[in-house]
Amino acid sequence: MKGIILHGGHGTRLRPLTHTGPKQLLPIANKPMSQFCLESMIDAGIRDIAIIIGGTGSSKVKEHYGNGEKFGVKITYVEQDYPKGIAHAIRLCKDFVNNEKFLVFLGDNIIQKSIAEYSRNFEKSDDAASILLCEVDNPSRFGIADVKDGQILNIMEKPKDPPSNLAVTGIYFLTPRIFDVIDRLKPSWRNEFEITDALHMLLKENNKITYNMITDYWKDTGTPEDIIHANGAILEKMTPYFLGKKESNVTIEGKVMVGEGTIIKSGSKIIGPVIIGKNCIIESNTVIGSNTSIGNNSRVALCNISNSIVMEGCNIECNIKIKNSIIAYNSAITYDQTEQNEKIFLLGEGTRITI
Ligand code: TTP
Repeated sequence: MKGIILHGGHGTRLRPLTHTGPKQLLPIANKPMSQFCLESMIDAGIRDIAIIIGGTGSSKVKEHYGNGEKFGVKITYVEQDYPKGIAHAIRLCKDFVNNEKFLVFLGDNIIQKSIAEYSRNFEKSDDAASILLCEVDNPSRFGIADVKDGQILNIMEKPKDPPSNLAVTGIYFLTPRIFDVIDRLKPSWRNEFEITDALHMLLKENNKITYNMITDYWKDTGTPEDIIHANGAILEKMTPYFLGKKESNVTIEGKVMVGEGTIIKSGSKIIGPVIIGKNCIIESNTVIGSNTSIGNNSRVALCNISNSIVMEGCNIECNIKIKNSIIAYNSAITYDQTEQNEKIFLLGEGTRITI
């Protein structure tokens, strides 16, 4: 079986974070989110993988994954000239797929369960496709499947009046039969070739589509809130380690992962789940609260930070509480002790700040 990871798209809901790179490279627990997809595929025994790239920062994707050798897989890059939809991106892989069955993973979908068993079952089956469904609270935001007695009756994109709360997750087991359907698709109201429309057509033409339920964690990380949530969920499941150094009088509670070369100075408090990368400095009197990731080579001083993601190379030194925040690579938040009531900003396009 072959694998396809979708790494294109606009990423508008994640601006300004996506001005400089694709959303799928944004880190969750200090790892690019699409790497979780790659690892799921590897776990399912898939070694021949295409990555769809397009738009901002495609070169960063190639830089990170290279030819796949360092992950033990073979990677082929497929360029999408414009994000014309998930079905359009899949269609570009027809030659790559050839006559094999294949697994498509949207690079911004995070799941925790292994898909190895689903993959084995699909390999043996005569299903035209198999999808993973997950119950959601707000079904009109998702592709939804209507299911009765274990059979899928209907698949629709963001229905106004949802027949169920079963969202179609971004993990699709497919056969080359989908290509013929995609060739006959019309663009949707949002001018995209929708995978839900393709699956719906496949179903209506009497092809068998089966499903499995994801009952543990699944997140489609389209917004900053989704990313912060996924970060907390992944941290919660990690096995703690401490490879750095801590001075005396440091309080550590809960699951904490600390990388090599990191120093945690006296009087600081780390309340897990927290990951701190390599070569970081957590200065005295700093609190890193739960559900927080600090990327490599960052320095955090004096503040109290929780439920947040700080990427690599940041310098945060300010006497404030920071929560529910995403601070991208090489950013600095510092304070001028002589100017208590004045703030100084140098902000990129589309930045959001709440004071
Ligand atoms: P979406 O999250 O639906 O779209 P988007 O990435 O353009 O984001 P936004 O709505 O915030 O502008 O895309 C789902 C996944 O599919 C995501 O991983 C990006 C990927 N994708 C492609 O690779 N090519 C495409 O043409 C589209 C539409 C999405």
